[in-house]
Formats: sequence, C-alpha cells, structure tokens
Amino acid sequence: MSALNKIARTLVSNKRGILAADESIGTMSSRLEKVGVEPTEENRRVYRELIVTTPRLSESTSGIILADETFHQKLNNGSTFPEFLDDLGILAGIKVDTGAKPLAGASDEKITEGLDGLRERVADYVRLGATFAKWRAVITIGDNLPSDRAVRANVHALARYAGLCQEGGLVPIVEPEVLMDGAHSLAQCQQVTTSVLESLFEELDLMQVQLDGIVLKPNMVVAGAGSLERPAVTDVARATVDTLRATVPVTVPGIAFLSGGQSPELATQHLGAMQSLDPLPWELTFSFGRALVGPALETWRGDEGKRIAAQKALSERVIANSAAR
Ligand code: G3H
Repeated sequence: MSALNKIARTLVSNKRGILAADESIGTMSSRLEKVGVEPTEENRRVYRELIVTTPRLSESTSGIILADETFHQKLNNGSTFPEFLDDLGILAGIKVDTGAKPLAGASDEKITEGLDGLRERVADYVRLGATFAKWRAVITIGDNLPSDRAVRANVHALARYAGLCQEGGLVPIVEPEVLMDGAHSLAQCQQVTTSVLESLFEELDLMQVQLDGIVLKPNMVVAGAGSLERPAVTDVARATVDTLRATVPVTVPGIAFLSGGQSPELATQHLGAMQSLDPLPWELTFSFGRALVGPALETWRGDEGKRIAAQKALSERVIANSAAR
C-alpha cells in the first residue's frame, strides 16, 4: 500500500468523516458577522479552537480541513492547529486553492485559482504537518450552463493540483462541486454531475494522478435550491449512487460528500440512505462544512458561556453522520 493510499484510506474508513473548517477569511468573516461576532483574526482563531477542542471529536472525525490562516495560528495551549490535531489522531488538511474567480469572458461561471507556486506551498504545508489537501471547483447549472470551457478549465486545474499534491506527498481531495443554486431538476443535476465527473476522470488520467491516492468530494445529486421539486431521500440516494457508479473508477478508495447548502439533517439522511443500497465499491462518507459546523456557530454566537453547548451541537452532527455510515 503506498503512503498516499494509506492516508486516503484513513480519511474515509472506520465510519469516520472529514470536517471542512477551511472557510476563506472572507467567508468565515461574513459567517461570524451573521451571528454577531466581530470578524477579527483572533475571533476566527477562537471559533476554530472551539471546533477542534470538541470532546471525542476523533471518534467520528478522521481529518479536518483548515484554511491557511488557521494553519499558522496557535491554540491557547501553545500548539499549532496541525500539532494539536496530530495529538488527537486526526489528520490535518489544508485548502490550497485561492478561490473561484470569474472565468474570462464568462461572468456567470468561475475558474478556481491557486496553481502558481503550489509546488512550494505544498512543501511548506507538509513541513508544518499537513497530510492532505483540498481544492474546490464550482460548476453552475443555468441556461446553457455549464459551458464546455468552464468544465474543461476546472477539471484541468483540479488534475494539475492533484498531481502537484501527490508529487509533494499530500493526498488531494478533489472537489468538483455542481452548485445547488438555481431552479434545476434532480435529472439536470444528474446529467451535469455525470458529465463533469467523466471529464474529471479523463483529465486525472491524462495527468497521471494515482487514483488510489485521492479522495473524491462531489455534490450529492439533488434538485436546485430554487426548484419546486422535493425528491424523496431514497431518490437522491439512488440518483447519486447511480451517477457515481457510472463515472468513478473502483480504484478510488473513498468518496466524501460536501453538503452544499442542504440542511444538516437532510444531508445526513441522504448519506445514510446511500449506505443501504447494494454493496458499493468505495467507502462513502462525509466532508461537510455547513452541515456540521452550522448548528455550533448558531449556538455559540461569540458567547463563551455557550461554548460547551456549541461543542455539543457539533458533536451531535458528527456522531449522526458517523452513525449514518
Ligand atoms: O468546499 C466546500 C466545503 O469543503 C464543504 O462545505 O459542506 O458547506 O458545502 P459545505
């Protein structure tokens, strides 16, 4: 078993999942502001410390994805975040993309940036304790969207990122997110997700990415947030698994879903329903952001007196998702 395969398997096995706590400074700041917390560097640190010090987190969490700012910050006890996670038996991951920017000449579509200097940044993050990385591409469904050029540009960037990570010793989480924004149907989401994943695996092959040393982080196949369609949990589970079966090679050790704006409870129900379908060739787990930390942030609201209740809210979500596996 290669070192990359071993890390990838650790991330997706034993009924554990990955916690995405890697919101960019801008996104984290606006989430803090929404709950009445001043968006300072220190408050972002305090909030992230609340997350990682949640009791017994390692029982259901295999890895935590951090943002660059957090990676360089320290907890009150003096350890860096990666050192603290290592002591807990949780793998430290790092978001290495620098965000989705408008694709040239196509203001409705985005290309994720961050390849420049990535080889050197990967080496630095490995030195600081990272074992895996994340890069998120976003694909929009709309009138005549996604365009071929947006899909191709994004899967190309994902494959080059994955190759650079593996070369430097990090397992890449490969995240092509078909967004829930819009009024599209479940069938449209399935068609677009299928075609994005097909293009992605062609590109990963072209770039000679070792498939047993990645974790795929896709969207579930759901109807758009603005659609009137409300598919049953079993329909989402079936459509998602059918899409993955048609596109994801069995050498990929595991698939860890993003939540994408689903409610925490629904994301968990969908994950659970997929496990009861026919035997699956890969591990299916969670790599949720909002669906794990949302209730904790809402409970905390910057009030240190609510710290334990907030940690309890996070704990409930990770335990529920682990149980759903
Ligand atoms: O890149 C997105 C995050 O890693 C997952 O976030 O579960 O809130 O969609 P989400």
